[in-house]
Amino acid sequence: MHHFAYQNGRLHAEAVDIETIAQEVDTPFYLYSHATLSQHFKAFDDAFATIPHLTCFAVKACSNIGILSLFSSLGGGADIVSGGELFRALKAGVDPKKIVYSGVGKTGVELRQALHTGILMFNIESEQELDALQAAAADLNLKAPVSFRINPDVDPKTHAYISTGLAKNKFGIAIDQALAVYQRAKEMKNIEIKGVSCHIGSQLTDVGPFVESLRKVKGFIARLADNNIQISHLDLGGGLGITYDDEAPPHPDAYAKAIKDELGDLNCTLILEPGRVIVGNAGILVSRILYTKTNIAKKFMIVDAGMNDLARPSLYGAYHGILPVNEQRSGKVIADVVGPICETGDFLAKDQEVPDCEPGDLLAVMSAGAYGFTMSSNYNTRPRVAEVLVKDDDYYLIRQRETYSDLIRGEAIPDFLK
Ligand code: LLP
Repeated sequence: MHHFAYQNGRLHAEAVDIETIAQEVDTPFYLYSHATLSQHFKAFDDAFATIPHLTCFAVKACSNIGILSLFSSLGGGADIVSGGELFRALKAGVDPKKIVYSGVGKTGVELRQALHTGILMFNIESEQELDALQAAAADLNLKAPVSFRINPDVDPKTHAYISTGLAKNKFGIAIDQALAVYQRAKEMKNIEIKGVSCHIGSQLTDVGPFVESLRKVKGFIARLADNNIQISHLDLGGGLGITYDDEAPPHPDAYAKAIKDELGDLNCTLILEPGRVIVGNAGILVSRILYTKTNIAKKFMIVDAGMNDLARPSLYGAYHGILPVNEQRSGKVIADVVGPICETGDFLAKDQEVPDCEPGDLLAVMSAGAYGFTMSSNYNTRPRVAEVLVKDDDYYLIRQRETYSDLIRGEAIPDFLK
């Protein structure tokens, strides 16, 4: 469900004509729907309403402070993976006591910053990281709340680059090595054991792997209890998938039911770290066609957005639906929609059925709200695009398009070349 639909022959975001925004802010730009973001957040959060839980939005999926502040206003916390994301979450007004810190390579400086902030907990992924956190907490004379990320060795059946719960992946601590780590942590003066965490991958379209990993984690929690280690929090990560094309992922209610059924009477506060399922279909990338050309092999539509603006098609071969902003362009053609970047891998759609449009027409690249802007770069010295939030019949620029000066900020010509 989302709020991008045709009205009077033109694609609108809620009640706003996308062509109007394009004229005002220029293209390309990311466009988010406030109603969709709110509904998705609430649908997810409400699905767990019957049990103690905290929904910590995965900041990496969409990190604009305007959007983070919306989730915070709805009672959400944040799942962060860097000092930069901590900075954003705090700027957006997220309560530090609702922040969990994930990630396999937190630096000493980042650990200190988060300790100083007083976050809810650190999801620790290795013994050496535990030692670094103990040292940082001792320096600051604080107790660090931790959970350990368990790697349950479960196949999430998703793209290899975003599978994280297999033994061969870099993430977490192997489930059969974890008890010893908890026992060590228990003896540490500046560590407070709070929970167990687990995240097996992203864009999962079946509840099976979630349930399988929860079963393993529950078994592990029982072993902890046998060893006199009690936990108060269970963090199940994110990973619930969305429909890009013809996938049929479970609704958050079905996902929550499967989790709650498997949880049974486990007496813990559940932490959830959804990203994509909340923002994925709440955002689109709007781009204008510059040129078209047809050679003996195929038709190309050359647009003003490229792989630097939306990396997912190039990086994962990901599919994104493409709609014309002008509904009259309803004819279809098989084509490549490509950007201006000097690489053959620069495409937003490949051999895909797309609207048969002309230069000057606007295209909406759908389902681009998650890992769209956040993975964008300045490759080919292209300014990162604007971000716009629509609410009802108004829209708000929540990130200005970068300028050329922004692009060289911090660079210098060394004296010997002047
Ligand atoms: N928690 C942890 C520890 C994670 O690593 C992730 C995502 C999430 C939560 C949120 O997962 P989600 O609910 O969004 O699936 N760039 C890739 C996705 C990378 C996911 C990384 N971790 C893509 O564009 O598909």
